[in-house]
Amino acid sequence: MEYKQIGNAEIPVLGLGTWEIGGRFEADHSQKQNSIEIIKQAIELGITHIDTSEIYGNGFTEELIAEAISSFDRKKLFITSKVWSNHLNYDATIKALHSSLKRLKTDYLDLYVIHKPGKDMDLKGTMEALGHLNEQNLIRAIGVSNLTEQQISDAQKFLNNSRISAVQNEYNLLKRDEEIIELCNKNDILFIAYRPLKRGQLAKPGIPLLDRLAKKYNKTQSQIALNWLISKPKIVAIPKATKKEHLQDNLGSIGWKMEDQDYEALDKINQ
Ligand SMILES: NC(=O)c1ccc[n+]([C@@H]2O[C@H](COP(=O)([O-])OP(=O)(O)OC[C@H]3O[C@@H](n4cnc5c(N)ncnc54)[C@H](OP(=O)(O)O)[C@@H]3O)[C@@H](O)[C@H]2O)c1
Repeated sequence: MEYKQIGNAEIPVLGLGTWEIGGRFEADHSQKQNSIEIIKQAIELGITHIDTSEIYGNGFTEELIAEAISSFDRKKLFITSKVWSNHLNYDATIKALHSSLKRLKTDYLDLYVIHKPGKDMDLKGTMEALGHLNEQNLIRAIGVSNLTEQQISDAQKFLNNSRISAVQNEYNLLKRDEEIIELCNKNDILFIAYRPLKRGQLAKPGIPLLDRLAKKYNKTQSQIALNWLISKPKIVAIPKATKKEHLQDNLGSIGWKMEDQDYEALDKINQ
């Protein structure tokens, strides 16, 4: 595994996404044992960043993660959770964090993220709550997701003694927002790319440039797509996988480089 800097801590370049592990917006108990197993396998393979949210499986995903991580040294894990859009005010955010900690059976989160803005969002109150939780050491870092550039700048202004350490947005070969990347680079904010495989679309043949580079480097399409992402200085990715062979395949994106001209071609894939 390779790591990047987030604030004063380190985060693996590849984490495990957990959307739909344990359900979508409602708990789904049908795959419970398999889900716990895949999270354990990911950690054993070195994927020690687990990304979740209070909304995934309506809290059940956090409970599955608690079971999966119970046999590991908590200090060696990087656990991210997110506060959903109906809890974006001071009191509700504090309460939501304590509920997540309880479900995850941990006494702190490595990163706590505003999941997405909602119509009743009180950004000032929410950021003040996050600042307070950070001062109490209940959350080691603060992040935001799906916010506009203006909202990110405003959010930072509402923090007094702490800062935004991470932005989590969709970013992959087919979906980019270079302005947010620039904002992150300028402000030393880590960018966490969600949906890095475009829900699996980038992990199969069918995109000519990906297919050509996969052949050239003797790699899979997902390895090319993820290597392109993590080759960028301040970007890490959180692909979701529910099969061990997918976890192993994705890990094969680490530790090698393509020629500059190929990264440039990938940068321009959509133009
Ligand atoms: N902040 C937000 O609003 C937000 C929004 C969306 C997602 N996220 C986070 O980002 C994570 C990742 O996004 P995502 O789950 O939407 O999509 P994704 O990671 O781009 O794609 C996941 C899909 O790719 C497949 N896959 C993974 N590795 C593969 C491989 N090597 N070969 C073939 N198929 C492979 C998975 O299949 P299998 O399951 O069969 O292995 C799954 O169907 C989420 O789980 C969640 O934690 C956050």
